[in-house]
Amino acid sequence: MRIGQNGLPQSPMIGAVLTLLFSVTACARDEVPVPKLEVSAVAAGEPVLDGPDKLTHGRYLVETVAGCGNCHTPHLPDLSLDPSKKFSGAFVIREPVFEAHAANITSDMETGIGSWSEDDIVHAIRNGQRPDGTYLGPPMSFGWYRGMSDTDVHAIAAYIKSVPAVRNVLPKSTYQFPLTGYGPPVTHVPDMPKTDQVNYGAYLAGPIGHCMDCHTTYVAGRIDMKQLGRGGNLYTNLFNGGVTAVSANITSDSSAGLGSWTDDEIKRAITMGVSRNGRVLAKAMAFSLYAKMEPSDLNALVAYLRTLPPLGAANAPAPAPTAKP
Ligand code: HEC
Ligand code: HEC
Repeated sequence: MRIGQNGLPQSPMIGAVLTLLFSVTACARDEVPVPKLEVSAVAAGEPVLDGPDKLTHGRYLVETVAGCGNCHTPHLPDLSLDPSKKFSGAFVIREPVFEAHAANITSDMETGIGSWSEDDIVHAIRNGQRPDGTYLGPPMSFGWYRGMSDTDVHAIAAYIKSVPAVRNVLPKSTYQFPLTGYGPPVTHVPDMPKTDQVNYGAYLAGPIGHCMDCHTTYVAGRIDMKQLGRGGNLYTNLFNGGVTAVSANITSDSSAGLGSWTDDEIKRAITMGVSRNGRVLAKAMAFSLYAKMEPSDLNALVAYLRTLPPLGAANAPAPAPTAKP
């Protein structure tokens, strides 16, 4: 969720500006295993069923693993998402070099994107560009969203077009650097077969859910793919709700990462926001939406996380100065 996403080219100026903003030290985990978990307790939310038709599939992705509402829906004081203002836009984060407000993406003609076609929305998600040609800024994860398949991104756009219009005027985001796009325009991405569990999990964790954007270390404002899953990024006052947290190491490292966790412990963290030792996690992630994922998708995510090369304190580069998010 920082500026240079997924290793794409960007202005060297931005990296320079962002250097040395924060330095986060990976802390050792105090892992006191929790009592054995009941998996049924994990799936707390009413599941959102997936289905073959476009709107059902789009609704499923948006309302679960994609979690668009985590940024685009205003948070209530307890940081849950305001059900009466879904997708009507909200403050996301203030950084030294930008302040981001996630746009109103309801179909309100005046304050939302009611005049945009499905293709316009698809282009905005995958290429970070509005119909008028201007580019969108961070922290929406365009570097990852470029990899969304045609089927999935069109389903997502169709569902977004179908949500009720909500009038909500937002301040404009401000970026103290030029927005110049995110690489050659993407027009076609083939489907990712669900039968290949690990690769499908990687697809959910990257292009659909952007988990790996928050959980991969940023160095000088640019994502460092050599530190995939190592975390260490600091988020300050996310959603204006006082959420300040450092993204966790979710590699397979047995001390710094998830290597010694059980599958159920990992699932509980993702869907209920509870760490292995019972600590309640900061509400940076959309736990309540992730809780509605189909079990096969949650299994695919966990299977993929298991394959992330271990990056602990000893075998990884020094913690990076990062600029959030
Ligand atoms: C990490 C926060 C975040 C997430 C997650 C996120 N967005 Fe965004 N989105 C933003 C921000 C911030 C902007 C405004 C950027 C700007 O002002 O340049 C934006 C802009 C947009 C726009 C352009 C609207 C306009 O009027 O310019 C669309 C469309 C959009 N998002 C759709 C989505 C969809 C669909 C998803 C889920 C797949 C999603 N976003 C997930 C933060 C997010
Ligand atoms: C907005 C950034 C963000 C996104 C998106 C995100 N995470 Fe996280 N995640 C965090 C932060 C920050 C923490 C640490 C919270 C804390 O320590 O209180 C965390 C914690 C975790 C933990 C618990 C680790 C531990 O040691 O307790 C797991 C597992 C995890 N995330 C997996 C995922 C998965 C899988 C996804 C995608 C479905 C995801 N995250 C999406 C920011 C994010």
